Amino acid sequence: MDKDRSIFIGSDHAAYELKEKIKVYLSDKGYHVEDAGTKSTASVNYVDYGKKVANAVSQGQYLKGILLCGTGLGMSVVANRFPNVRAALCSDIFSAKMSRLHNDSNILVLGGRIVGDILAFALVQTWLTTEFEGGRHLERIQTIDS
Ligand code: RB5
Repeated sequence: MDKDRSIFIGSDHAAYELKEKIKVYLSDKGYHVEDAGTKSTASVNYVDYGKKVANAVSQGQYLKGILLCGTGLGMSVVANRFPNVRAALCSDIFSAKMSRLHNDSNILVLGGRIVGDILAFALVQTWLTTEFEGGRHLERIQTIDS
């Protein structure tokens, strides 16, 4: 598995359909996508799926993850409790870009009831192709977990 081209993705029922579309989008672009679930639109607790993806990113098993729920709020709260996780809830391109440039975000969080498919694809593309600036921003993020 090429870690730089591998994404661990997870959602609850509210964003299941968007997750499936993002999986196809990423696969078409040559990414390896691992799906933590959920596997249908049946109601589930978003926390279970948020923990799976956040834990794997926290432990370094994946460099990047994508989490989705209805608003993205629950997933971002869960993910940001894990050490080394910097989860960014984004619904605009500027924030997606800045979350990589300045925050080195390693989990992108999307609200399936907030963003449409085309915007979601653009957010994913921007987030995956923007590199962390480092420098003073590295010094800053290093103090988060200390
Ligand atoms: C599910 O109804 C909804 O609460 C969940 O998807 C998410 O938005 C929670 O933050």
